[in-house]
Amino acid sequence: MDALGKIYNVASIVTINSNNKLNGITVAWITRVSIKPPMIAISIGKQRYSYELLESADKFGVCILSKEQKNLAKIFGSKSGRNINKFENVDFELTKSGIPKIKNIVAFFECKIVNKAEAGDHIVYIGKVVNQELLKFDQPLLYGEHQLF
Ligand SMILES: Cc1cc2nc3c(=O)[nH]c(=O)nc-3n(C[C@H](O)[C@H](O)[C@H](O)COP(=O)(O)O)c2cc1C
Repeated sequence: MDALGKIYNVASIVTINSNNKLNGITVAWITRVSIKPPMIAISIGKQRYSYELLESADKFGVCILSKEQKNLAKIFGSKSGRNINKFENVDFELTKSGIPKIKNIVAFFECKIVNKAEAGDHIVYIGKVVNQELLKFDQPLLYGEHQLF
């Protein structure tokens, strides 16, 4: 049993529009880090295509998935946007600032990147929440011990 697996998180999809290149990545390493102003930190592996895109982006979106959206967590978390358009066959819209927002999610945040920090093989991006929407009262999809539930 991996002790780190006991750190449970929400499974979310972080969405990016970097110079009109759209991508989404499943992210479980995500947490609130400030109340005032509200801020969210996400940890992104340096191997990910999303890392390349975030390096030239000034904001990101966070889609908090519902328990019925396991399939989306798998699609966005197993394939790279380098090779495919992960939004093909996914119901989504673009916000006013061009960030992809997936439909039928529990909550959505739009964050302006205000800081970042090296964390081993990942980079932690800290985003100030500039827009937040509570869309459903359902419990979100969770990730822990290598499982979605
Ligand atoms: C449930 C789940 C949680 C994940 N959490 C993270 C995470 O927090 N950070 C990260 O960099 N990758 C995470 N991944 C892996 C990426 O989602 C995966 O490597 C993805 O294919 C990268 O896509 P990209 O190359 O288009 O950026 C997770 C995958 C799954 C299935």
